[in-house]
Amino acid sequence: MKELKIPLIKNGTVIDHIPPGNAVKVLRILRIPSKDSSTVSVAMNVKSKIGKKDIVKIENRELDPNEVDKIALIAPKATINIIRDYEVAEKHRVKLPDEIVGIVKCSNPNCVSNKTNEPVKNRFKVIKKDPLRIKCYYCEREPEDISERII
Ligand code: CTP
Ligand code: ZN
Repeated sequence: MKELKIPLIKNGTVIDHIPPGNAVKVLRILRIPSKDSSTVSVAMNVKSKIGKKDIVKIENRELDPNEVDKIALIAPKATINIIRDYEVAEKHRVKLPDEIVGIVKCSNPNCVSNKTNEPVKNRFKVIKKDPLRIKCYYCEREPEDISERII
């Protein structure tokens, strides 16, 4: 028998297949809670076909591409389900690009990407996808905890 951990939603977004424990990081990326917060439900350590997972359901909100790119960094196998009138209207798998531009801050304070007087956007090369390892394009520094450095 299928057990429903959290209720289905009418309209909004379901972020599914988040690695167990990472739901909180997804919330942080989406700036939840915020003043105008919609109804959000979170399930952690839900049993799935392949081990455990976290799920985040946000009512009446659709994510913008920049938010989806950030989620890919901490949940590379996540699916973004757009729900309309109780149906899964769209299902997207997040995608990790070969270069990460404008969403992670370099951990080197002297890096050119951290100088406010330089028009240089932070930029990282992906060295390894699983587990994710990235390297600054400018100073080659590898951030230790990527999720802590997402802007
Ligand atoms: N969901 C929801 N509200 C709805 C419809 C779906 O909260 N009205 C959630 C489901 O609980 C599930 C996710 O959206 O967590 C994706 O739904 P669905 O595609 O029906 O599930 P699966 O087929 O299991 O998805 P996948 O193959 O991506 O694992
Ligand atoms: Zn750097």
